[in-house]
Amino acid sequence: KNIVILISGGGSNMAAIVRTAQQQDWERRLGARVAAVVSNKADAKGLVFAREQGIATEVLDHKAFESREAFDAALAQVIDRYDPALVVLAGFMRILTPGFVAHYAGRLTNIHPSLLPAFTGLHTHQRAIDAGCRFAGCTVHLVTAELDVGPILDQAVVPVLQDDTADTLAARVLTQEHVVYPRAVASLLQKK
Ligand code: GRF
Repeated sequence: KNIVILISGGGSNMAAIVRTAQQQDWERRLGARVAAVVSNKADAKGLVFAREQGIATEVLDHKAFESREAFDAALAQVIDRYDPALVVLAGFMRILTPGFVAHYAGRLTNIHPSLLPAFTGLHTHQRAIDAGCRFAGCTVHLVTAELDVGPILDQAVVPVLQDDTADTLAARVLTQEHVVYPRAVASLLQKK
């Protein structure tokens, strides 16, 4: 069972999944492996890590395409070369078209840095602080055509501290993302 992970930047969630797959021997235990890491940014730092791990990498620059649909069609063609059982969005900062989402229905996941359904969209940590939330966190969900909405697979919660800034809260949430995303991916693969 091949996993393809999509990133746009640091790829810390991708790295956490790769490391967990190695440490928990997913290849033997789940018959699963991370087959490729795909990015829309040639300079995504996560690509360096993936290459160091001997994982295939692909770059598709969205600016090279006439439309969102054209980019998504090309992206799906690249991804399908790896015959994925699961496509994992991890810090992939593109809104995907309904056609792309439908093509991967039931095998497309994302991690969002809030306790969905609260705070869909961007700047989730600042918004949680501004709202006076006592808790924040992250959500792993199946991706549907509606942004940051979809069946919730797992969540992790962290306290919001009195003197938190968006950055200190983001760092605390990110630590939990690295726990909950690999756990959710492993659980999904066990069911496939
Ligand atoms: C994280 O906050 C994650 O919740 C969001 O993208 C941010 C960066 O993730 N999806 P990564 O370090 O690139 O995995």
